[in-house]
Amino acid sequence: MIYKVNSCSIYGINGYIVDVEVDLSNGLPGFDIVGLPDATVKESKERVKAAIKNSELQFPQKRITINLAPANIKKEGSVFDLAIAAGLLVSSMYFLEEEVRKTIFLGELSLDGTVKGIKGILPMCIEAKKQGFNRIITSNENAQEAALVCGLDVIGVNNLREMLGFLDGSLIIEPTIFSAEKLNCNDLDDWDFKDVSGQHTVKRALEIAAAGSHNVIMIGPPGSGKTMLARRIPSILPDMSFEESLEVTKIYSVAGLLKEDENLILKRPFRSPHHTISAASLVGGGRIPKPGEVSLSHFGVLFLDEMPEFPKHVLEVLRQPLEDECVTISRVNGTITYPANFMLISSVNPCPCGFYGDESNRCSCTPSQIKNYIGKISGPLMDRIDLHVEVKPVKFNDLSSEARSESSSSIKARINRARDIQLNRYSKDGIYFNSQLKPKQINQYCKIGLKEKALLKNAFEKFNLSARAFTRILKVARTIADLEGSDNIYINHIAEAIQHRSLDKKYML
Ligand SMILES: Nc1ncnc2c1ncn2[C@@H]1O[C@H](COP(=O)(O)OP(=O)(O)OP(=O)(O)O)[C@@H](O)[C@H]1O
Ligand SMILES: [Mg+2]
Repeated sequence: MIYKVNSCSIYGINGYIVDVEVDLSNGLPGFDIVGLPDATVKESKERVKAAIKNSELQFPQKRITINLAPANIKKEGSVFDLAIAAGLLVSSMYFLEEEVRKTIFLGELSLDGTVKGIKGILPMCIEAKKQGFNRIITSNENAQEAALVCGLDVIGVNNLREMLGFLDGSLIIEPTIFSAEKLNCNDLDDWDFKDVSGQHTVKRALEIAAAGSHNVIMIGPPGSGKTMLARRIPSILPDMSFEESLEVTKIYSVAGLLKEDENLILKRPFRSPHHTISAASLVGGGRIPKPGEVSLSHFGVLFLDEMPEFPKHVLEVLRQPLEDECVTISRVNGTITYPANFMLISSVNPCPCGFYGDESNRCSCTPSQIKNYIGKISGPLMDRIDLHVEVKPVKFNDLSSEARSESSSSIKARINRARDIQLNRYSKDGIYFNSQLKPKQINQYCKIGLKEKALLKNAFEKFNLSARAFTRILKVARTIADLEGSDNIYINHIAEAIQHRSLDKKYML
């Protein structure tokens, strides 16, 4: 006799339904799991057996075979424990198979029968809903996260006995309701642009970048405030839509990085990995594949401080995700794609001593030292960066001035307006920001007049721009026009966009 219950697992950042089939046959008692289980899934046998016995329930004294279907995808983790236990309890007639036909079981078991939380519950619940299931039984720890998905009854249980009580009707457990109070969105940021004196051009460039999600490189001497400015970017990033929040939360859920009291991520991510990071940690991968920093920065910011300190081969792996907005990792049995649509913010000193190009003429580096240093950032990578910004040392008058600079909240208000314009314009195109425009959409949304064309042609020849740089200038000009609320792109918008691409000569970029 075969009994079937359902569970779910993760491939990439999406869930897929796993059928847990239990077969009991006569013969010497034994317990086997088939269907490409990894070591953790195989260990499930011991956890489930102990959990059932320690909950004072009957464990079938038969030859047990568990099949996890589809059998062609490798199963990892302890998520199937609860479903395997449920399958065995069905086979012992504790409850009927029909009662759990539309139920998904997700959870790890302790030896004493306690149901524990697992990673990646959100994408699994999204898939369960899609496939027509209407109930999730999981640990209390995961119940809030699961309840984010509307239209599913989420039953949170502490242990196997509670689950059984619920299923045989002797215990009433109300479905978990998603509580908006538990949303952790308001951890106040102390970082505000009002603390940064002067630096108007840089702030303007960062405003444009945040409004259209463009990549930025900041070049300047030590102590000019590059790190200080970058740290304040999260305070002006536009609010996330619910779909964006859900997508980001899915990635963090799969990576197991959701904080305990955090069910839905409402703030755009800001990741700033150290320069000792490996290529695999940056883009993702590993024996058990995990999203890398580029995916953890999805819909947010990846900040690379002191960019030339990163090994060249590590920087080069950024090229593909910067272009494709996703990372594809090859595995023995297939490929996994993680989304990676991030805004790259980087800071560099212009040379090893940091003072090349400075008005004080303090630089003591040789031309070849400078070339080697800045050359770590390759041409193709530089080409993908839309805004090149010079951060000059802040002037004494600005520093000592009593006047406070504009606050982040007022900059953010402008950015949110520009962002709404983009959301409206691209509602049917499946993109969110100007930086995501594809060539066909550029033709449609970035139309320019003759005067504007002439200016662009001039810049193209003067700065030896690549075709990519050309389209990137148009996208930045689109954002500048949106910040102004202008439907058309005019010559002043193009001129400002070009100005942010013209540092190459000065800094040997
Ligand atoms: N515009 C500014 N307004 C107020 N304080 C500033 C400004 N610029 C720099 N500072 C002060 O200088 C400190 C150093 O700035 P920061 O670390 O951002 O420089 P940096 O450009 O990143 O230097 P490095 O290249 O050495 O990393 C800041 O912590 C801040 O106290
Ligand atoms: Mg710094």
